[in-house]
Amino acid sequence: MANQQKSTWKPGKRDMLFLGVVAAVVLVLVLGSGERKTNPVPNDEVHQGASTMAECMGCHGNEGVRPQPKGHIQGGQCFQCHLQPEGWRGAAR
Ligand code: HEC
Ligand code: HEC
Repeated sequence: MANQQKSTWKPGKRDMLFLGVVAAVVLVLVLGSGERKTNPVPNDEVHQGASTMAECMGCHGNEGVRPQPKGHIQGGQCFQCHLQPEGWRGAAR
């Protein structure tokens, strides 16, 4: 037991730097995840009731009233990227 060290730990400059970097990374991840890159689905009657992709595409297909932009992904689960409207009752029907 010759080599006993004091067990009290005082943060030095390098520790503070390390903690600073960790805090910065966490902050970036938290802020980044909260940001949605796509427009949500509007909370209106039409959108609350639409339950199939065919319904969506009837209006958002090429011939629809509001076509998806050029280069938009074909197919896919709409709600995976576009936030589902509040009070959506598609699944209940
Ligand atoms: C009866 C036609 C119709 C149906 C069915 C429909 N939409 Fe829409 N949708 C529209 C119109 C018109 C707009 C734009 C006007 C507005 O903001 O209400 C719109 C807007 C949107 C927007 C917002 C982006 C924008 O252009 O402002 C998204 C996202 C969207 N629809 C997704 C969907 C999804 C997903 C479905 C199926 C669950 C769906 N829509 C079904 C007509 C429709
Ligand atoms: C992989 C993610 C993804 C999926 C799945 C997806 N979209 Fe999109 N959508 C986007 C992105 C990204 C944009 C362009 C960004 C924007 O304008 O909001 C977009 C734009 C749109 C727009 C035009 C929005 C505007 O601002 O004018 C409509 C309408 C739309 N999508 C409908 C749909 C429908 C309907 C489905 C399901 C068949 C669907 N999307 C599935 C990512 C997706």
